[in-house]
Order: sequence, then structure tokens, then C-alpha cells
Amino acid sequence: MSGKTFWRRLLLILLAPVAVLSVDIDEARAEYGDVVINNYSDAAGMRPAIFPHWFHRVRFRCKVCHADLGFKFKAGGNEINMVKIIDGQYCGACHNGDLAWSVENCNLCHSGKPGTPTQVHESTIQQLAPVAAPKK
Ligand code: HEC
Ligand code: HEC
Ligand code: HEC
Repeated sequence: MSGKTFWRRLLLILLAPVAVLSVDIDEARAEYGDVVINNYSDAAGMRPAIFPHWFHRVRFRCKVCHADLGFKFKAGGNEINMVKIIDGQYCGACHNGDLAWSVENCNLCHSGKPGTPTQVHESTIQQLAPVAAPKK
């Protein structure tokens, strides 16, 4: 098997039970402006990932993520997976236990309500009226 496949399997074997245990404890949360990323999570039995955009935007310049780290300006528009994150790409550029807490904290990112589609979460608007389509 390839190196990446090996590491991916090892990670999931070692850490998946931790994720399963912690899932029930953590409240699902998504606030205004949060990006729900769910291209693969549901299918893999994980809660969707929540990216709190405002929390990050007040701490870093747009350029850090959208130029230097290559995040496209589109909810769900990046093919993010755990191999890339562990490899230091995308979220993993910071969530490495150095700049920010590490990848072992599965439930801090995978905190979305199961079944929530990829979208920019606008809680107030969604409560007031049905929205035409999730913003892409
Ligand atoms: C820093 C945030 C973050 C942390 C911590 C994190 N993930 Fe993820 N993970 C993501 C993002 C973002 C995606 C892409 C979500 C999507 O598109 O569904 C993802 C995708 C996944 C996927 C589906 C894609 C793939 O690689 O197979 C699985 C399974 C997964 N994560 C498991 C885990 C487990 C297990 C842990 C803890 C060991 C973990 N994640 C920790 C952000 C994180
Ligand atoms: C810490 C990293 C980070 C910073 C800093 C950041 N973004 Fe983002 N941005 C993201 C991620 C991650 C996504 C979602 C991408 C995905 O779902 O794959 C996103 C999505 C977006 C989107 C599309 C979704 C939406 O809300 O409409 C826009 C537009 C955007 N960012 C603009 C900005 C602007 C403007 C700034 C600076 C004021 C900024 N971002 C700062 C990481 C960041
Ligand atoms: C440019 C660096 C950077 C990138 C890229 C980044 N983060 Fe973060 N993130 C941080 C820092 C710094 C914190 C604060 C850590 C702390 O409080 O110790 C944080 C905190 C968080 C939190 C907790 C917010 C809270 O309310 O406490 C979540 C959830 C999170 N990040 C998810 C993600 C996900 C998902 C991605 C990828 C889509 C990502 N982050 C990409 C730097 C980053």
C-alpha cells in the first residue's frame, strides 16, 4: 500500500474510536457565517466539519488563507480530506499542535449536525424564511 494510504489507515484506526466517543458529548453548533463543509464527512460516518469564518477572519488576513494556503472562495469548493490536513495543507497548516490545537481534536471541527449540507450557515435568515438554495 502507498505511504499515504498507510498513514490514513493508521490515523483512522488509532483515532476513530476517540471521535465516536466524543461525538455524543459535544453539542452540534453552527453560527452566523460559519461554513459547513460536508463533501465527505457524512459518507464517512463523521459529523460535518464546521469552519467558523468570523472567528478566523478577525485573527488572520484573508490573504493568509485565500492566497498563501490556497483556499478557494467557495463553501465546499476545496477537496479537503484528512490526509491533506495531516500533511499540513488547508486546516492542517495551523491545526498542527503548534499554531493552533492539533488534528486529534476531531470533534472540535466535526461538530455539525449530521446530514447538514455544505453551505454558509446564516442562522437568522434560515429561521425566518425558507432560503432558495444554499449559497455556494
Ligand atoms: C482542524 C479541523 C479538523 C480536525 C481537527 C479533524 N478534521 Fe476531519 N475533516 C476536516 C475537514 C474540513 C474535512 C472535509 C469535510 C468534508 O468535506 O466533508 C474533514 C474530513 C474528514 C473525513 C472525510 C474525508 C477523509 O479524509 O476520509 C474523515 C473520515 C475525517 N475528517 C475524520 C477525522 C478524524 C477521525 C479526526 C480526528 C482524528 C478529524 N477528522 C479531525 C477537518 C478536521
Ligand atoms: C483561517 C483561514 C481563512 C481566513 C483568514 C479567511 N478565510 Fe474565507 N474561507 C476560508 C475557508 C476554509 C472557507 C470555506 C472553504 C471551503 O468550504 O472549502 C472560506 C470561504 C470564504 C468565502 C466563500 C463563502 C462565503 O462566506 O461566501 C468567501 C467569500 C471568503 N471566504 C472571504 C474571505 C474574506 C473576505 C476574508 C478576509 C476578511 C477571509 N475569507 C478570510 C478560510 C479563511
Ligand atoms: C491560518 C491558520 C488557521 C487555519 C488555516 C485554520 N485555523 Fe482553525 N483556528 C486557528 C487558530 C489560531 C484557532 C484558535 C486556537 C486556540 O484558541 O487555541 C483556531 C480555532 C478553530 C476552531 C475553534 C473556534 C472556537 O470557537 O474556539 C475551529 C472549530 C477551527 N479552528 C476549525 C478550523 C477548520 C475546520 C479549518 C479548515 C477548514 C481551520 N480551522 C483552519 C487557526 C487556523
